[in-house]
Amino acid sequence: MRPMLIHAVRTPASTEMAADIYAGLSRPGQKELPSKYLYDEVGSALFEVISALPEYGVTRADERLLRRHATEIVAHLKSPVIVAELGSGAGKKTRGLLQALSHHHRQRTSYYPIEISASALAMCERELRDIDCLHVVGFEREYLDGLLEVAARRRQGEQLLVLFLGGTIGNFEHPAEERFLRQVRDVLRPGDALLLGTDLHKPLPVLLQAYDDPLGVTAAFNLNLLARVNRELGANFVLENFQHEARFNTAANSIEMHLRSKVAQSVTIPDLGLTITLHRDETIWTESSHKYTREEILRMAQVSGFHCRGQWIDGEWPFAESLLIAE
Ligand code: AVJ
Repeated sequence: MRPMLIHAVRTPASTEMAADIYAGLSRPGQKELPSKYLYDEVGSALFEVISALPEYGVTRADERLLRRHATEIVAHLKSPVIVAELGSGAGKKTRGLLQALSHHHRQRTSYYPIEISASALAMCERELRDIDCLHVVGFEREYLDGLLEVAARRRQGEQLLVLFLGGTIGNFEHPAEERFLRQVRDVLRPGDALLLGTDLHKPLPVLLQAYDDPLGVTAAFNLNLLARVNRELGANFVLENFQHEARFNTAANSIEMHLRSKVAQSVTIPDLGLTITLHRDETIWTESSHKYTREEILRMAQVSGFHCRGQWIDGEWPFAESLLIAE
């Protein structure tokens, strides 16, 4: 019997995504696909599963810190405050803090999640809409575009609190993270706040397991990027021909995800008018996740125009929450 053909409805990629992917795959040397494209509907759902894995402690540490220290964090803020979150994801980890905020200020608090993943944004809005006195308005935007829109909505006297949680700052290559924080700072007014979640150094075996779990969820999350390029740009990546790989880059203090080509092969991406060749064991680099020290966080804050008002560290999984105030 012939296998049944499943015709998926194709959602074409945006022109920006097409241009980024063209640039990353056609460049000489290390091929790359930007990590932000990991989060389509399937990728966002897989990331939620990663967050529940025993080997991946990042999201739980973030959530624990926000729950345990919410009252203390909130006490450092002025009133009234509006909240913008860069890359809210499904919103679960933010609940404790938002509850403490609306409780502390005893008035309606506006929360603006900013997310490029439409499906994550929808999950977030659903997850948090039951919090008393919380007004949720999602923005399906890039971080800075969304933040500019939120800033334009603020009223006189309102303090803006920006949340950048989950350790996502670690996905920037040095020194792009400082440039990014500086751009965030430029949208803020003196006295506004940024709550920054960063994953800290930990023993290598722990890190490698966190990014290459035995169940293979992270592998699926990584491989889905190729599946997405197939779906949205008509490419013919054969997923079986690639192997997920997590490795630690000691010079950069980053854990990197790659997709290793198991064979010599060529792949065509019709929508880009591009054919690429990969030799055996050549990799496509898909993500870097930098691991910080506390000193590094303070320095990074300082060079981008913030000072640190408070820092909270998880005891179980080294992760820091830093409350930074715009100078
Ligand atoms: C959501 C970007 C923080 O870098 O740890 C999880 C993404 N990648 N497993 C991270 C991720 C592989 C995650 N961030």
